[in-house]
Amino acid sequence: MTDKLKYALIGAGGNAEKKHIHGYLALEDVEVVAICDIDAGKAARMAEKYNVPGVYSDYKEMFLKERPDIVSIVTPNFLHAEITEFALAHGAHVHCEKPLSISSEEARRILAARDRYGKQVMIGLNNRFLNEAVFLKKWIDDGNLGNIYNAKAGWIRRSGIPGRGTWFTDKDRSGGGVMIDLGAHYLDLALYFMGLPKVSYVAGSIHQNFVHTTARNRNGYKGIEGGLFNVEDAATGYLGLDNGASLSFDFSWASNIEEDRFYVELMGSKGGASLVNGQLKLFGESSDICLDITPKLKLNPTLQLKNEFRHFVDSIRHGGSTLIAPAEDGLYFAEIVDAFYQSAAVGAPVVLKKGQPAASVR
Ligand SMILES: NC(=O)c1ccc[n+]([C@@H]2O[C@H](COP(=O)([O-])OP(=O)(O)OC[C@H]3O[C@@H](n4cnc5c(N)ncnc54)[C@H](O)[C@@H]3O)[C@@H](O)[C@H]2O)c1
Repeated sequence: MTDKLKYALIGAGGNAEKKHIHGYLALEDVEVVAICDIDAGKAARMAEKYNVPGVYSDYKEMFLKERPDIVSIVTPNFLHAEITEFALAHGAHVHCEKPLSISSEEARRILAARDRYGKQVMIGLNNRFLNEAVFLKKWIDDGNLGNIYNAKAGWIRRSGIPGRGTWFTDKDRSGGGVMIDLGAHYLDLALYFMGLPKVSYVAGSIHQNFVHTTARNRNGYKGIEGGLFNVEDAATGYLGLDNGASLSFDFSWASNIEEDRFYVELMGSKGGASLVNGQLKLFGESSDICLDITPKLKLNPTLQLKNEFRHFVDSIRHGGSTLIAPAEDGLYFAEIVDAFYQSAAVGAPVVLKKGQPAASVR
């Protein structure tokens, strides 16, 4: 390994531009050597904008020529497993966007490849790296909530379909609709705060009510009129957890509500917490009265408790550190999603085998 880690970006779309390229360009001990997109023009435009020398439209060629130490995979979901396996086999550590895979079977293959080639795989679960989330996780791990017996999670949008007729609305390329898209963030976050408990059963239902309109597209996302839309635009459900706790959830790309809301609410025996639209509040009691606590995390605008990119690179360089979003958690989530869609299809709860999902035991 050279002094600087060689980094390449695969998939030069919206999220790559918003997140990954900036995250890695900011690290002094990383050299951004290549950008690859199946659309060569997109790769070239991003490479020119950020002064990156290598431009590729074929990821296999990119691996063979550049031999990167680390890659981000920011492609449509159905390519995550295929490209991750190829990357690991060609000596790269992988920062893969959420969801890790579109099925638990694919997630298992990723874990097997990671272990076979001795590389690291981290999922781009950026919500786990928010200051509020880092602080709340510590607050919970320090015992301040006691036993979390109930939680609610959701992300409900009034007009937030990420473009009808794009890969997002094509089940074969996305793996599902809003459940796998926004659920991968906020259902994941609730379960993460709860310590990734084993799930006993999953009850889910899916809905599709906004297929015939382009008026409910997310701002800035163009749809293709008449384009394929064979996934759910709303997903609701309930998880019964092995430790007796419960978790209900509600996700929608589009719905007739007053305003958008993204949230995790946690109810514990000693205290509670809510993270609603980015605002963290803690609830408890002391001296016989109920108390609300508002952590002042934004008082120092430069405060960053954890940086997703630095964390991954440090873990690669120094080993030993426990990843905040390891591949195991992608398998855990994929098993829940598999059971969720199965439950929605049969119209009944799906009971998971004892010991499933395969939570990353910490
Ligand atoms: N963490 C987050 O907050 C967040 C936000 C948005 C998207 N995402 C995830 O990021 C991924 C990409 O989403 P997006 O919104 O950027 O989508 P996008 O459609 O804007 O970008 C995907 C890019 O991948 C390229 N691509 C397709 N096939 C390819 C291939 N074989 N090789 C190389 N490039 C290929 C496309 O041409 C496109 O430029 C998805 O998995 C999505 O779930 C995560």
